[in-house]
Amino acid sequence: MTAISSGAKPVLVTGSQPLSGQVTVPSDKSMSHRAFMLASLALGESRIRNALDAEDVAATRQAMMALGANITVDGDDWLVSGVGVGNFREPDQALDFGNAGTGSRLTMGLISSSPITAFFTGDASLHSRPMGRVLKPLARIGATHMARQGGRMPLALQGTHEGLPLTHDLDVASAQVKSAILLSALNILGRTTVIEKAPTRDHTEKMLEGAGVVLDYGTHDGRPMVSLVGPQQPEARDWEIPADPSSAAFPMVAALLVPGSDIIIENVMMNPHRTGLITSLQEMGADITIVSEHVEGEHIASLRVRHSQLHGIEVPASRAPSMIDEYPILAVAAAQAKGETIMRGLDELRVKESDRLQLVHDHLVKAGVRAHIMGDDLFVTGGHVDGGMEVDTHLDHRIAMSFFVLGLVSEEPIKIDDMRTAETSFPGFADLMMRLGAKVSA
Ligand code: S3P
Repeated sequence: MTAISSGAKPVLVTGSQPLSGQVTVPSDKSMSHRAFMLASLALGESRIRNALDAEDVAATRQAMMALGANITVDGDDWLVSGVGVGNFREPDQALDFGNAGTGSRLTMGLISSSPITAFFTGDASLHSRPMGRVLKPLARIGATHMARQGGRMPLALQGTHEGLPLTHDLDVASAQVKSAILLSALNILGRTTVIEKAPTRDHTEKMLEGAGVVLDYGTHDGRPMVSLVGPQQPEARDWEIPADPSSAAFPMVAALLVPGSDIIIENVMMNPHRTGLITSLQEMGADITIVSEHVEGEHIASLRVRHSQLHGIEVPASRAPSMIDEYPILAVAAAQAKGETIMRGLDELRVKESDRLQLVHDHLVKAGVRAHIMGDDLFVTGGHVDGGMEVDTHLDHRIAMSFFVLGLVSEEPIKIDDMRTAETSFPGFADLMMRLGAKVSA
C-alpha cells in the first residue's frame, strides 16, 4: 500500500507511438475518501473494495484511524470498523493531509460536530489553499478554529457536541463545502440545510443514502437544496469504487491527440456531475463511444476513444462544476484543436492544488501555444506545439499529467519537473501511459 514519501522525479516526455490497448485507470478519489469516512462513522464492519490506493486517500485513511476507526487490509480490500456518530476520539497528533483538499475539508466537517479538537496540516500546496470557505459555515454551527491568515493551514479546529442546525446558502460552487456541512449535520440535532450556488458532484448525498441516511431535496430560487435531520447513524456496508473519470481524462485526451490511437478505458464512473469533459470533447468532434455499460450505484461505462481532429468550442461557465478538475487537460486538447476554444468562468481554478488557471496559461505559452486569460476566462488557439520546455508542477498532479500528455504531441520533448506528484491521485500514471505507447526518458 502507498506510503507518503518525498523526492522529486523528473521525466522527459519525448513523443508517442499510436496509443493502443485496454486500460483500467485508478479508482475514484472522491468516492474513496467518502467510503473511508462513512465506514469510520458507521457502527460495525464495512468492506471497501477497489479503493484508490494513492497518497491523498492514504492521508484520509490515516486520519480516520487517528479518530478511532480500526482499519485493516484484507487481500485487496480494506476492512473498517467504525466508531459511530459522535464517538470520534481526539487525535493525539496533528492530522497530516499531504496534498488532499477533499480529505481535509470533509474531515473538518466530521470534527466540527464532535466535542474534540484536531490540528490540520499538509504540504505546501494544501497550506496555500483557502479553508475559510469551510471554516465559516462550521463556525456558524458552533465550531471554533485558529488558522493562519486567509483561513489557511496549519490550523486547529475545536468541534462542539451542541452544533446548531442551520440553513447554509453557499457562495461558492463546491462539493467539498456542501459535503463538510452534511457530514457535520449527522451529529447535529435538527434540520441542517445546504443551498448550493450551482449543482456539484453528489457523491456525499448518494453514499449517505446508500448507508441508510435520509436526505430531503428541493430547490431555492432555482438552486439545488439538500437537507438532513440529525442525528442520523450511517450503517456499515460494503463499498465498491469504480474508476475515476478525472483520471480517465488523461489517457482519453492522449488517445484523441496522438494520430492512429485507438484505446478502451474500462469501467469509468459516469456520474452526470462528472462528465462535463466528455460532453465538451464530443462537442469538439471527439470519437468517444460507450462499448459496454452497467449500473452499480453509479452508471459505469467502458469507453472506446479514437484519434480525432478536434475543433474549438466555447465551454459555458455553467458546465464548470461538472468538469472542474478537467480544465488543464481540456486546455491541452484545445492546443491541438482547429481554431479557438474559450473556457468561461474558471475562477475556482485559481484555488485548486495550484493556481491552475495561471499555470496552465503560462505553460501553454511557454510551449509555443497561443493562449490568454481575460477575467476568469481562458482562450486557447490550437495549432503547432513547440514544446522544448520544462513544466514546474507546483505540487499539482493534474498539471503534471496534463503537460505529460502535451509532450506526446509536441515538436520537442517536454520535461516535467516532478512526475511523483501524480501519485496523489494516479499511481503508476507514467507506466500506464508508456504501456499504451508514450515515449519517456527519465
Ligand atoms: C471534490 C470537489 C471539487 C474537486 C475536488 C474533489 C470532492 O472541489 O475539485 O478535486 O470530492 O468533493 P471543490 O469542492 O473545491 O469544487
